[in-house]
Amino acid sequence: MLETQAVLDVLRPVQDPELQKSLVELNMIRNVEIQGSTVSFTLVLTTPACPLREFIVEDCEKAVKQLPGVETVAVEVTAETPQQKSLPDRQGVTGIKNILAISSGKGGVGKSTVAVNVAVSLAQSGAKVGLLDADIYGPNVPTMLGLSDAKVMVQKNDQGEEVLEPAFNYGVKMVSMGFLIDPDQPVIWRGPMLNGIIRQFLYQVDWGELDYLIVDMPPGTGDAQLTMAQAVPMSGAAIVTTPQNVSLQDARRGLKMFEQLGVNVLGIVENMSYFIPPDQPEKNYDIFGSGGGEKTANELSVPLLGCIPLELPVREGGDRGTPIVVAYPDSPSAIALTKIARQLAGKISVAALV
Ligand SMILES: Nc1ncnc2c1ncn2[C@@H]1O[C@H](COP(=O)(O)OP(=O)(O)OP(=O)(O)O)[C@@H](O)[C@H]1O
Ligand SMILES: [Mg+2]
Repeated sequence: MLETQAVLDVLRPVQDPELQKSLVELNMIRNVEIQGSTVSFTLVLTTPACPLREFIVEDCEKAVKQLPGVETVAVEVTAETPQQKSLPDRQGVTGIKNILAISSGKGGVGKSTVAVNVAVSLAQSGAKVGLLDADIYGPNVPTMLGLSDAKVMVQKNDQGEEVLEPAFNYGVKMVSMGFLIDPDQPVIWRGPMLNGIIRQFLYQVDWGELDYLIVDMPPGTGDAQLTMAQAVPMSGAAIVTTPQNVSLQDARRGLKMFEQLGVNVLGIVENMSYFIPPDQPEKNYDIFGSGGGEKTANELSVPLLGCIPLELPVREGGDRGTPIVVAYPDSPSAIALTKIARQLAGKISVAALV
């Protein structure tokens, strides 16, 4: 006797070729029905013109035909925009108004720098802000926020539940894998704990009332993004790139991943746009080429939120634990980061009104 669950189980290993994630996990397989030897289901894509749709359908058919007793597989292909998506039940966090992810396709493009400075800048403007470091492989937010020696305490809340008390600096509450995991523990062991830790960071932290919870994501389109998007309703995501053309493809993959998960991409941030030498501040050098962020934003039809120059004090501030928006608020990079923070806040409020 054929069962729906068996169909989902054989489909589980079939991946979206771009995102390299299971179609079942991405909630792209719906309405599985079995009638005699015919199995039918709906494949839900983000765009009806998906260039890879034929391949995906073929992979699905092949997988389902492995089941004994199946003769015909009928796949109906539909598309849903992120706004139309019907999503698995997601549980908001009491007291947190908006959750915003800072993500990128590539590593080392400046996500953590952007996340930390956007968080501090929003706090400077009077908002209540939290920062969740979701990077288990390289949790460097504690250092950048001047909290490398901080310890998080477990306390009992009013309901008698144990909760983590976040660390705090520059007006920002923060938790990080860096506080919980022994730095000598092999990274390979952290992977399977990811889902649990991210949920703990959302629901078992004494965040209190927050206007914004900024999430610093690890690079790529991995499990942290998936876990986050499936756990809580998010107000949006910003994707960080450098001007190099190679990043376009990564940014596109990042955008698609969030769309697939029903998360609105608020825009692209171009980092390391041009180099300002410390001794010749009037000069700009396009080290990584120019216009990549704008081109990416145009091609993906999302706004370019701003361009941040490459300046020595940004890195020094990160290493020293003094974010550039605190150390040199009048520097070109701090001004760009503050503008980006304001734009993100604006776009979140507009999205909330729609
Ligand atoms: N605009 C900038 N000017 C100067 N240095 C920068 C700038 N942006 C980032 N950096 C430096 O580049 C390095 C990488 O930045 P960061 O750690 O923010 O990137 P990331 O995308 O979070 O990296 P990962 O993928 O490893 O998490 C850091 O040393 C940071 O201080
Ligand atoms: Mg980082």
